[in-house]
Amino acid sequence: MEDDPGEDYLFKVVLIGDSAVGKSNLLSRYARNEFHMNSKATIGVEFQTQSMEFDGKEIKAQIWDTAGQERFRAVTSAYYRGAVGALVVYDISRRHTFESVGRWLDELKMHSDMNIVTMLVGNKCDLETLREVPIEESKALAEAEKLFFIETSALNATNVNDAFQIVIKEVY
Ligand code: GTP
Ligand code: MG
Repeated sequence: MEDDPGEDYLFKVVLIGDSAVGKSNLLSRYARNEFHMNSKATIGVEFQTQSMEFDGKEIKAQIWDTAGQERFRAVTSAYYRGAVGALVVYDISRRHTFESVGRWLDELKMHSDMNIVTMLVGNKCDLETLREVPIEESKALAEAEKLFFIETSALNATNVNDAFQIVIKEVY
């Protein structure tokens, strides 16, 4: 049957990373094909559900987005609870956001399942002229930490669907 509920999957995926790396814009680009040049910092938690077809099955991803800024963050354990995928985002044009990745990974490990599928995401790859994080360095970190790695641009949509879909397919 077309709408057999037994064929549906629902996966929770979380977005983490420093403030202003583009987490909310990656989500709005993926879920609604929207980009906002002047988006406000996220306060608390938001989520969007996005479906994809894979192997003839409908897979729904519930993607959670929270504040990178400590003072705007909601209860951490609740945010990570039940997550099977994570995108750890930094901004290729701001080196300190890459240097924070280790702390985000520590928090992720502390609060989530050991088998959580994790993708390191270097966002804003449209800002090549302002690049502060060489791609080789991110690849090395991803290899050492056993993470997937991709560079994206929420602005021009480069690799945004792939970033989410690779994680979701791997979970599935
Ligand atoms: P918090 O909610 O504070 O944690 O920030 P965030 O990670 O959700 O960042 P947000 O998506 O709000 O984006 C921050 C700023 O970066 C905004 O001005 C966006 O327009 C801009 N931005 C996001 N993605 C990109 C991108 O791929 N390229 C460029 N050039 N700018 C981007
Ligand atoms: Mg945000």
